[in-house]
Amino acid sequence: MPNLKVLLSREQIQKRVAEIGAEISAEFQGQPVVLIGVLKGAAIFLSDLARNIALDATFDFIAVSSYGSEKQTSGEVKLNKDVDNSMEGKNVILVEDILDTGLTMSYLMKVFGAHHPKALKIAALLDKTERRKMPIRADYVGFEIPDKFVVGYGMDAAERYRNLPDICVVEE
Ligand code: XMP
Ligand code: MG
Repeated sequence: MPNLKVLLSREQIQKRVAEIGAEISAEFQGQPVVLIGVLKGAAIFLSDLARNIALDATFDFIAVSSYGSEKQTSGEVKLNKDVDNSMEGKNVILVEDILDTGLTMSYLMKVFGAHHPKALKIAALLDKTERRKMPIRADYVGFEIPDKFVVGYGMDAAERYRNLPDICVVEE
């Protein structure tokens, strides 16, 4: 049984998510936005973020897989579930749990860039900047964190701990 140590408390998370929601609301004032959540890790972040966005917002979800283990992204990304509608002319915000090497987001920026959206932004709750391999940055970042494996608030270790309200570091 691993030991879980709180890295970011539920209070810290809620405060920061509200700030990001306000930032997005101000930036897209008067315009509709589409939030695209990357399953499954971003589901909880998306649902909290959406309630802090005072705009006409719709949701969609995608699923991706990367070859290799969860902890070590190998480089190849595959789209397992696409969006239901074209994003042409829309204000699209890709919502992700963690920006790590950046491979997943580089791939998704290419995929969604091809839809010719009006705007294409990235909201990442966490950013492990040390691990970046691709030149990509999020437009909205919750917290920069060190290179530690984290769980909770949607994030998992072998599908467990997604329901924890705090973000925790797993200590083996
Ligand atoms: P890349 O490297 O493509 O990877 O930016 C992003 C994806 O890797 C997963 N990831 C984690 N998942 N705890 C998790 O539960 C972590 O500490 C962690 N680090 C990376 C995550 O799914 C993200 O979408
Ligand atoms: Mg993920």
